[in-house]
Amino acid sequence: MQTISGRSVAGRTSRAAIASQRVRKACVVRDAAVVEEKPVGTAWEFTQPAGKGLGWYTGAEDGYMYVDQLRVEDIRRQVPESPFYLYSKNRIMHNYQAYKKALEGLSSLPCYAVKANNNLIIMKELAAAGAGAVLVSGNELKMAMAAGFDPSRTIFNGNGKLPWELELAAEKGVLINIDSEFDLQNIAAAARKTGKKVKVLLRINPDVDPQVHPYVSTGLAGSKFGIRNSHIGWFLEAIRAEPLLELVGVHSHLGSTITKVNIFRDAAVIMCEFVKMIRSEGFNLQYLNIGGGLGIDYSHQGQVLPTPTDLIDTVRDIVKELGLTLVIEPGRSMGRRRVKTNGNKHFIVIDGSMATLIRPSLYGAYQHIELTKPSNAPMETFDVVGPICESGDYLGKDRQLPTPQPGDGLVVHDAGAYCMSMASNYNLKMRPAEYLVEEGGKLRKIRHEETLEHHLSVFDGL
Ligand SMILES: Cc1ncc(COP(=O)(O)O)c(C=O)c1O
Repeated sequence: MQTISGRSVAGRTSRAAIASQRVRKACVVRDAAVVEEKPVGTAWEFTQPAGKGLGWYTGAEDGYMYVDQLRVEDIRRQVPESPFYLYSKNRIMHNYQAYKKALEGLSSLPCYAVKANNNLIIMKELAAAGAGAVLVSGNELKMAMAAGFDPSRTIFNGNGKLPWELELAAEKGVLINIDSEFDLQNIAAAARKTGKKVKVLLRINPDVDPQVHPYVSTGLAGSKFGIRNSHIGWFLEAIRAEPLLELVGVHSHLGSTITKVNIFRDAAVIMCEFVKMIRSEGFNLQYLNIGGGLGIDYSHQGQVLPTPTDLIDTVRDIVKELGLTLVIEPGRSMGRRRVKTNGNKHFIVIDGSMATLIRPSLYGAYQHIELTKPSNAPMETFDVVGPICESGDYLGKDRQLPTPQPGDGLVVHDAGAYCMSMASNYNLKMRPAEYLVEEGGKLRKIRHEETLEHHLSVFDGL
């Protein structure tokens, strides 16, 4: 087997062979790290004729995998790192525009959930396109400002926001969600300390089951997020008593990977009852924030999933009737990019791992896996596993794939959201490089691979 930079680490499928591959692969990863990188701005060479589709697709005529105009095989020949993340700018902007279009005719604030992918270059593109942002930490707020997001079009969420984070948010005019009694007190303290008036939303749990994995379900009554609805009167009085707090809206986020829009409607109906009740208490509510959560077709079995338009249309009449501004917080459905790794036989042992992409190990998530080029090899059932010292380290189980040849590339699809942003340095695997295919089929490096030097620097001077 070879890495994408072409070094041989051949091995077969017995456990001993896999173990020895791991040792040799570790050497190759070091080797790969010293391969000279193509300097930014150098022309990339693409030998194949341009494809015609948008985002990731298999070429109808040649069976190769493409990203926009570029063959992935061409890209991997020119990228020194493996694994690496690869995104399509066209696809990301197209996804954002789909939300913009869906929101036409409504007063709205579409906010990108930065937790899904915090690459600065991608964030800059979305900020330039006019998106707002949903933030879950002070550092995400700093990144959002560096990317050019207008802080008054950002929302700070979270059940454990720290005083310094709240002070920064108050200073910058960020909308802040109230998550609990102590959170309200901390927000009020930040407002007083900075002397700024803070616009707040109440995060309410509509207690509608999103019918998703429990780890990505957040809007049920027992969730760790959101206020206790039975205490809403207490919250309203506490806000009224704080002249620096202005209650401007309500927020809910049901969970992620939701595939039925009636779930959003059920929640919106309940949220509107809260809006009416809170307005009747004399508060001038402007925003209904229905969170994010729209699912994507991880299975790649042609599942027909709701679009942003389906989602918005299901709540449109409610929002209009109450004269509200609709806030949405999509993350996953904005991303939809991939991570590419190297393949081998039996258990297919690859150089990507749970450190690169943790969703399958963390909550059994399915991410579709394919070879980057057509193959006539016999189909077999494989577990696609990484080199991390954990039996839970896998990217796919029981996958029917053509037996890969040494050095073949594998693509783990739909890795644009919650993959790189959840990557770790576990086992001292370094977070991988990221690349973006831009307009006109231009390949751009948008993040360097981390190195051991980066890692060692956190111990400098200690
Ligand atoms: C409060 C909030 N908003 C938005 C999102 C984005 O969700 P998704 O990526 O499923 O659209 C999340 C994700 O967990 C979240 O917690």
